[in-house]
Amino acid sequence: MKKYNIKNINLASQGKKKIEWAGNEMPVLKSLEKKFSKNKPLKGLRLAACLHVTSETANLMILLKKSGAEVKLCASNPLSTQDEVVASLVKDYGISVYAVHGASRQLYYQHLESTVSDQTNMTMDDGADLVNLLHTKKKNYLKNIVGGTEETTTGVIRLKALAGQGKLAYPIIAVNDAMTKHFFDNRYGTGQSTIDGLIRATNILLAGKVLVVAGYGWCGRGVAMRAKGHGSQVIVTEVDPVRALEARMDGFEVMQMVDAARIGDIFVTATGDINVIDAKHIKLMKSGAILANTGHFDVEINVKALQNMAKSNKEVRPQVVEYSVGNKKINLIAGGRLVNLSAAEGHPAQVMDMSFAGQFQAAKYVWQNYKKMKPEVYVLPIKLDNEIAKAKLSTMGIQIDKLTQEQKKYLSSWELGT
Ligand code: ADE
Repeated sequence: MKKYNIKNINLASQGKKKIEWAGNEMPVLKSLEKKFSKNKPLKGLRLAACLHVTSETANLMILLKKSGAEVKLCASNPLSTQDEVVASLVKDYGISVYAVHGASRQLYYQHLESTVSDQTNMTMDDGADLVNLLHTKKKNYLKNIVGGTEETTTGVIRLKALAGQGKLAYPIIAVNDAMTKHFFDNRYGTGQSTIDGLIRATNILLAGKVLVVAGYGWCGRGVAMRAKGHGSQVIVTEVDPVRALEARMDGFEVMQMVDAARIGDIFVTATGDINVIDAKHIKLMKSGAILANTGHFDVEINVKALQNMAKSNKEVRPQVVEYSVGNKKINLIAGGRLVNLSAAEGHPAQVMDMSFAGQFQAAKYVWQNYKKMKPEVYVLPIKLDNEIAKAKLSTMGIQIDKLTQEQKKYLSSWELGT
């Protein structure tokens, strides 16, 4: 069988430069490469990875390969694939990749199937699509799988649902739940890259605009914070009372989407749930409203409803489709797919350095410990999480204090008061 399916191998030299540029900002991955490329702790590992195929992901794949793993990669979203990076991974680094930017739904799933085989012994997902495939159509491949890892909140939700029904077939580390992942990637990564996607797609001035953020999880917090920094008036919508309160005390207006719909200029969904912006909200929006989603799947904005309500639509800029709804114009970015990876390049390398150090450590941990693990969703051991934070600090030239013996004693005692 052909070992890859890509757009154009001739893009490789462009892709290599991009991979190297990102790699220069991923010093934690570089330190792992230095540590593990000699003794190759991942020897024997046949890994199927389904991730956004970006220059940052390329650096993770190269590290995994140098550490002894045999890796195959496919895309976790048809619009985030960087074809030049794919070409270089195949040509310059000898890695099997099945990914084409803009792939149809059918090709997308074909690529997932090409990435797994009865020889695969570990999965690395961003959104749990490989896990889904192995628990449905390709159950016969489960016999050799020893474990897996998961990158994102949505994927972890799916895995927990599967485990809750007692159907998860192998242990998976939820890398997303590591502190060095969601505190930084979800908040600062999504915060910056979502604004980046909005600006690249529309070239809009955020200052003075009313920007509505749906969801105040780590991603929503990041988007709200960065939009505020650009001078937008930020409104948060939430279903969770504690998060809603936190948003209010962080200085944002909080209201229901039906109320925000009337006054928002820009809407960004970051909830992980479906139809958060629905027909009833779209009906209330101002002409010129801009809709974008930064959650993993393209389900948060009811695009079908928008299409049905509209008498016509046209592409007004790359990645922006204007729908004529009554006498109003509603603009949808990237078809409701992840705005940060479709209209921009995803999170910058500096933050993916930590997320992917977590992926590497999780894969290594599972490979070395799967015999002791159950088919459950695990968090990355805190020791490894802390090691990533320490390594990142060290690469940033930052030193922190250490507890003195006296302070350690104080923290472990209950007798000492005022
Ligand atoms: N998820 C968010 N940003 C990403 C990036 N740059 N590469 C891979 N996955 C991502």
